[in-house]
Amino acid sequence: MSEVLRAEGLSKRFTGIKANENVSFSMEAGSIRAIIGPNGAGKTTFLSMISGHLPPTTGKIFHKGQDVTRMDVVKRARRGILRKFQTPSVFDELSVYENLEIAVLGTNRAADPRPARIRSVLETVRLADRPDALCKHLSHGQRQWLEIGLLLGRNADLLLLDEPTAGMTAEETAATASLIKELTKDHTLSVIVIEHDIDFIRDLEAPVMVLHLGEVLTEGSFDSVANDQRVRDVYLGT
Ligand SMILES: Nc1ncnc2c1ncn2[C@@H]1O[C@H](COP(=O)(O)OP(=O)(O)O)[C@@H](O)[C@H]1O
Ligand SMILES: [Mg+2]
Repeated sequence: MSEVLRAEGLSKRFTGIKANENVSFSMEAGSIRAIIGPNGAGKTTFLSMISGHLPPTTGKIFHKGQDVTRMDVVKRARRGILRKFQTPSVFDELSVYENLEIAVLGTNRAADPRPARIRSVLETVRLADRPDALCKHLSHGQRQWLEIGLLLGRNADLLLLDEPTAGMTAEETAATASLIKELTKDHTLSVIVIEHDIDFIRDLEAPVMVLHLGEVLTEGSFDSVANDQRVRDVYLGT
């Protein structure tokens, strides 16, 4: 296995706030990593430094061994570091298929715009039976899945998902965990996912990093983290 991402001593300070403090992190290509922690723990800030939306105050980020610390968002996206934001950005008046076509044809020359590729993405994100549906008619969960599909339609290598199940029904949430596991099952795509829903995190069966006050409180399997008294104190107990 090879390393897809490594962060060394990442810190991010806003005026008077240590949003991230000396966060080090590494993950293997083709794996899933969950990040949990209470509100304000620094989870989104961490993801923003990985995607290139925020420059770290100190520290370094390596993608597949290359230092990307000073690389801008667009260049990182071309390397396949793609981020899904919490607010959906699909075109409501266009169909599922059209949204995907735009994503694929849009910016990325390395992406594959052939119908077969688009069909395969639709299947992955559980929208194969709704290619012609207008996005405004999708359920909240389906819109979130389409957003993931839009990332897959480009040449994704590392997906960054910030609270992808927010607002979903229990069924949609469970289906999202299966979907994310399927994405990584051939060990090419990697996923970092921030979530609050503990059942969802358990379903991912992935290592968990716990952030608290901008620092790594602990890291490990779901069970080891869930049974850690410090984690219970700051997060699960709340
Ligand atoms: N752009 C910003 N300017 C100032 N403070 C920020 C900014 N973004 C986040 N913060 C602060 O940094 C801390 C971590 O925030 P965030 O990364 O959003 O946490 P989380 O995603 O874990 O809820 C919080 O105290 C938040 O208020
Ligand atoms: Mg956040």
